[in-house]
Amino acid sequence: MEGTSVQMLLAVVSVLSCTTDQARLTLRPSSSQFFKRDFLSLSCEEDDSSAGWTLRRNTTRETRTQCGPDWGTSAGSSCTMSYIFPWDSGVYWCESREGATSQSINITVSGGAVILQSPVLPVMEGHDVTLHCKTKRPPSDLPADFYKQGSLMGTGPTGHVTILHVSKADEGVYRCNIRGHGESPPSWISVTEKPTTTAPPTTAALPTTVAPPPDPAPLQQVFTVVCYLVVFCPYVISTVLMVSLYRHTPTGNHLSVSMVMTPPTHAEQALDDDHDDVTREHQF
Ligand SMILES: *[C@@H]1O[C@H](CO)[C@@H](O)[C@H](O)[C@H]1NC(C)=O
Ligand SMILES: *[C@@H]1O[C@H](CO)[C@@H](O)[C@H](O)[C@H]1NC(C)=O
Repeated sequence: MEGTSVQMLLAVVSVLSCTTDQARLTLRPSSSQFFKRDFLSLSCEEDDSSAGWTLRRNTTRETRTQCGPDWGTSAGSSCTMSYIFPWDSGVYWCESREGATSQSINITVSGGAVILQSPVLPVMEGHDVTLHCKTKRPPSDLPADFYKQGSLMGTGPTGHVTILHVSKADEGVYRCNIRGHGESPPSWISVTEKPTTTAPPTTAALPTTVAPPPDPAPLQQVFTVVCYLVVFCPYVISTVLMVSLYRHTPTGNHLSVSMVMTPPTHAEQALDDDHDDVTREHQF
């Protein structure tokens, strides 16, 4: 069966997307670059606080170290850094006790006089992105040159440029320069493709065994239902698989005999079409 591997992949992806979306990492102020001695705060916005989410980071000096004992000040699933230095530059992420991880972000701390403020999280295709080139001390709206992949893309008279309706082609390494002050470190801007609009699941396809969770907030309720669905999907897929395997085994034997003599009948084609429809329903 050729479809099996695709279905397996789908199942794995749906389970993964469920577990990785349980915490969202937020950074305040939201910027990819900071000046030395700035303050910043990171937090894991979690769905299930009992999972014990903590902040971890990789820098050039350390690997997977945790907020609190090793760096920063930990408070629950948040972490504050009141005085950052260039060696705090690195990759930061949330990790649960079970080892589930959030998306990760890159933070660069500059020891220089100029930084580029760019989105720290991937930007959705079609959105506008504003880049701000800043000096450490006011005035912070000096004319700045902006570079993408090393070539000049434009000058912002007040230190800003806006990229309208970003596409995958806008992804890359950006930096900026303020004459007489200096150049910013580079930062990577990534663009995520707009999720393709899939047919909404029909109410008939909803598993009737999913009971609404006790009494959570509406948003949480939606999340839980989505999560249940996503977890439930592999079971539905495997059930469909089992049923189709069960159905195909006898007809398959029959087919191998009849193929020699007659082309497949309409009935058999219809059966295959049915099967395709079933699998398509569960792709999202
Ligand atoms: C952190 O570093 C370890 C070891 O080099 C690596 O396996 C891991 O993928 C890194 N994590 C992130 C989020 O980059
Ligand atoms: C972090 O930086 C590295 C190297 O510049 C890049 O490959 C990676 O995609 C970045 N990660 C994020 C989440 O921006």
